[in-house]
Amino acid sequence: MKFENRVALVTGAGSGIGRAVALRLAQDGAKIAVADWNATTGGETVQLIQQQGGEAILMQADVSKVADTERIVAETVGKFGKLNILVNNAAVMLEKTAVDTTEEDWERIVGINLKGTFFCAKHAILQFRRQGGGGIIVNMASVNSFFAEGGIAAYCTTKGGIAQLTRALAMDHSGEGIRVNAIAPGWIETPMNANFFALGPHIKEQAAKLHAINRIGQPEEVAHLVAFLASDEAGFITGSLMTVDGGFSAGLAPAMGIVV
Ligand SMILES: NC(=O)c1ccc[n+]([C@@H]2O[C@H](COP(=O)([O-])OP(=O)(O)OC[C@H]3O[C@@H](n4cnc5c(N)ncnc54)[C@H](O)[C@@H]3O)[C@@H](O)[C@H]2O)c1
Repeated sequence: MKFENRVALVTGAGSGIGRAVALRLAQDGAKIAVADWNATTGGETVQLIQQQGGEAILMQADVSKVADTERIVAETVGKFGKLNILVNNAAVMLEKTAVDTTEEDWERIVGINLKGTFFCAKHAILQFRRQGGGGIIVNMASVNSFFAEGGIAAYCTTKGGIAQLTRALAMDHSGEGIRVNAIAPGWIETPMNANFFALGPHIKEQAAKLHAINRIGQPEEVAHLVAFLASDEAGFITGSLMTVDGGFSAGLAPAMGIVV
């Protein structure tokens, strides 16, 4: 199996894309450290992995706390003996323009999406060094890393930052055999978009039209690319931001926006 004897830490693995990634890497043989601040949903992911014959542990953690980012790396190594793959996936959405965003909102979303990603990477890299080099980081960016959408200014800012962090980490750590890449999904059917979809069936139809293939994506479709980037087949790929967006970024569709 592709990831036999490899250990992967997936943040935000209790839901949506993170859960699909955890399940996919486990199917390919990786032992999975599930990190999520929601112990209930995180525990469900662990159970799903075990039901499919895999090995997993749950770590309740808030990635916006630097101490937690250090702890989850240490606990992963404590349980499985090493860390090979970090998937920096945990994030939150904030449906506000800059004008409506409070300092508290900003601290929260930047703390989780950007600071959390940064410090999980830092502590993973320190562990990779202790193991003698090598290691994979996959950061979850977004099409909002390079296209803004209306009404989510702080979210777009954090996702733009993740794209540049990915490049900076690749520059600094490629010499140690560490590969760092990011994935930019289009609209994916997960709880993160539940608020939008709750506005009515027309939202999903309009969201579909933003993508050249006229549908939104499924979490498993993002997980396939994580599995590829984390594999040896991607050995010459680092510092990249790769789309899984059904053609969202291929044309002018995003400029048309969604009319609620
Ligand atoms: N769904 C989409 O359309 C879409 C599109 C582009 C990018 N993304 C990105 O994909 C990633 C996963 O999103 P999703 O749609 O699966 O979202 P989701 O809301 O379904 O899952 C996010 C998970 O992160 C966890 N989490 C949130 N804050 C945390 C914290 N501080 N510490 C630990 N865990 C925390 C949540 O509990 C949840 O399990 C995010 O980085 C998101 O920005 C999603």
